[in-house]
Amino acid sequence: MVEARPVGDNQGMILTIAQLGQPVLRERAAELDPASIVAPEMQQFLQDMRETLAAAGGVGLAAPQVFRGQRLFLAAILPALDPEGPPEIETFINPLLTHASPEKAAGWEGCLSFAELLVLVPRHRAVRMTYLDAEARPCVIDLHGFAARVVQHELDHLDGILTLERAASTRDIIKASEFESVVKKNSLEL
Ligand code: NI
Repeated sequence: MVEARPVGDNQGMILTIAQLGQPVLRERAAELDPASIVAPEMQQFLQDMRETLAAAGGVGLAAPQVFRGQRLFLAAILPALDPEGPPEIETFINPLLTHASPEKAAGWEGCLSFAELLVLVPRHRAVRMTYLDAEARPCVIDLHGFAARVVQHELDHLDGILTLERAASTRDIIKASEFESVVKKNSLEL
């Protein structure tokens, strides 16, 4: 489902994002051979993913969402280089959740594969993840709050799990268009 690209073109391209109903979103993705990460084809794919994430205005994007069943995702969760700027994007390859706080918090999550819906999802407040970065370096990161939520959402994509399965109740699934009027109003009462 990825369009052809001229050979030798270093510019990235916008990839098609798989939408709810595509089987790839429900399948477990495969581990990557670490030796393949630095290959030009993979580096080009990572650049394409970065551009696709930026174009979509998302905070995370997993490879299965662009029809590629491999265990990698992007998450915009690193401190901004420019204090006024957006968070930096990290690449997580073969990620493993090695620690998760027992405490969970519920938060509303959107997904680029079904942007029309928001789902209230309980997530661990803090997690530790080990992974390889875009240069195949082994990394460990401790995250909490929103950043921890983002990587848990993206890790789920690698196991074919969507927020819809994580909802405590189908009542916790709403249309994004209703968020301001329904959820924000109710959250004032918390
Ligand atoms: Ni998603």
